Amino acid sequence: MNIKIRDLKEQDLPHVLDIAKVSFSVPWSLEAFKSEIFNPNSILRIAELDGEIAGYIVLRKIIDQSELLSIAVKPGLRRKGIATELIKNVLNEIKSSIKCCFLEVRVSNFEAISLYEKIGFKKVGKRKNYYLLPKEDATVMKLDIV
Ligand SMILES: CC(C)(COP(=O)(O)OP(=O)(O)OC[C@H]1O[C@@H](n2cnc3c(N)ncnc32)[C@H](O)[C@@H]1OP(=O)(O)O)[C@@H](O)C(=O)NCCC(=O)NCCS
Repeated sequence: MNIKIRDLKEQDLPHVLDIAKVSFSVPWSLEAFKSEIFNPNSILRIAELDGEIAGYIVLRKIIDQSELLSIAVKPGLRRKGIATELIKNVLNEIKSSIKCCFLEVRVSNFEAISLYEKIGFKKVGKRKNYYLLPKEDATVMKLDIV
């Protein structure tokens, strides 16, 4: 299996939007992705599996912290280590300039919580009614970068 991680370019967005649409009840809009592309503090990467866009990650640096804003993998290509590769690729690049990474995840999203825990994130809090459609609390998770 040949997973290649590279920067997300504007021309990748139709494929990325397709993945977002099948992965989230409220997917990011085209404008939301574009504004992250043009944010100098944001890192957007995609994973290609044998040339096919298989997943993406969006992470933002905030001084010496980072926030994992979004990650998704094409349904047919999950459980192949693609999300793990995306997270490790980005964190590896910024680890010398950040102390930790935070994220929010739906309390019911056990697939994502399992992924984050496997990488070393710990549950550190909860945000009441953080999500809409459907309304749900978020679990806040944190990875300390050592
Ligand atoms: C969460 C998501 C990104 C994981 O992507 P992935 O490429 O399948 O993840 P990986 O293959 O790297 O999985 C790594 C580990 O996470 C855990 N995991 C991932 N999916 C799982 C599942 N369906 N059931 C149980 N554990 C799971 C496992 O520990 C897995 O390791 P293993 O396969 O060796 O057991 C993917 O399921 C997805 O796109 N979901 C929809 C979007 C989403 O919820 N994003 C997160 C929002 S906060």
